[in-house]
Amino acid sequence: MKKTRATITAIGKYTPKRILNNRDLEKIVDTSDEWIRSRTGMVERHIAAKGEASSDMATAAFKDMRKRFKIDPEEIDLIIVATITPDMFFPSTAALIQHNIGARNAFGFDISAACSGFLYALAIAAEFIENGRYKKVLVVGSDTMSTITDYTNRDTCILFGDAASVVLLEPAEEDYGILDYILKLDGSGKDFLYMAGGGSRNPATHETVDKKMHYIYQEGKSVFKFAVIKMAEVSVDLLKRNSLKGSDVGLFIPHQANKRIIDACVSRLKLKDEQVMINIDKYANTTAATIPLGIVDAYDQGRLKKDDLLLMSAFGGGFTWGSVLVKWSL
Ligand code: UT7
Repeated sequence: MKKTRATITAIGKYTPKRILNNRDLEKIVDTSDEWIRSRTGMVERHIAAKGEASSDMATAAFKDMRKRFKIDPEEIDLIIVATITPDMFFPSTAALIQHNIGARNAFGFDISAACSGFLYALAIAAEFIENGRYKKVLVVGSDTMSTITDYTNRDTCILFGDAASVVLLEPAEEDYGILDYILKLDGSGKDFLYMAGGGSRNPATHETVDKKMHYIYQEGKSVFKFAVIKMAEVSVDLLKRNSLKGSDVGLFIPHQANKRIIDACVSRLKLKDEQVMINIDKYANTTAATIPLGIVDAYDQGRLKKDDLLLMSAFGGGFTWGSVLVKWSL
């Protein structure tokens, strides 16, 4: 019997109004527009308003989705939220979003896989649809990175932005939808990218705040090296096992952490510029939101059309990494 695939049937996005550009950062830390552009490809990033949390941004992204597509929130069966900046430890961000959007028949949960979170969530959602249990799954990537960024530290404060983006997964017609995925985890990466404070290891105290343990810590160079190798490797492996080559890919949407990481991956996959979605200049690294944001922007720009083969790939804290292959149906 032919397997039911899951496909993306609706999309939406939200970026906060406030924009912080490289020139603004020059006034805060010892950096330059030239350094940031040439080392990362970033130009500006959106920053949430005070008190604006990940569930608020996700709710706004869902609103945008409803403006674009006819969706009844009560028909949603499941909400999976990829985030490393939940509103709070509990209840889950999924619970807060469920309440906000009136998806009263849905259950839901958050997953923590940093920058690979959206791909992890997408794969989990697809399994629930493929096994026939659920028909409508909302997948959310939402991160308010500004709330865990130390704006006195030039190593990290230039890198991140805030955004949310959502996609709806439903059973696919014909041979459209999520064709295959590979997801990976290597916990030995825990020492290179993390936020130490606030969890059960280092519960919040005056001391953890004084030591700036509630901010992102990253050893950029080590993460860079691992990212370059692993993002390309997993993408090549996924294409290979589906008997595909780079030239078969309609659009490649990589996680937007550094333009130089993307370029290395693109060169390994032998892709042309027109096959690659890059919006790191507009948003910087929005963690779980980069890939769904890329989907919405590519779709709006007419770069993602029905029948296109879409390859997505991400890399992040954990380390986590992975790739997902989709035959686009919207
Ligand atoms: O999404 C999660 C996964 N994260 C990533 O994929 C991030 C991966 N890493 C990176 O993207 C890069 O490592 C960074 C962009 C974070 C840093 O770039 P880099 O080329 O690895 O720079 P570096 O850390 O080796 O620093 C090079 C120089 C140093 O100065 P010296 O020692 O050569 O004098 C830094 O102090 O650049 C200096 N530097 C800066 N200069 C101006 C570091 N940050 C800045 C800055 N502005 N913001």
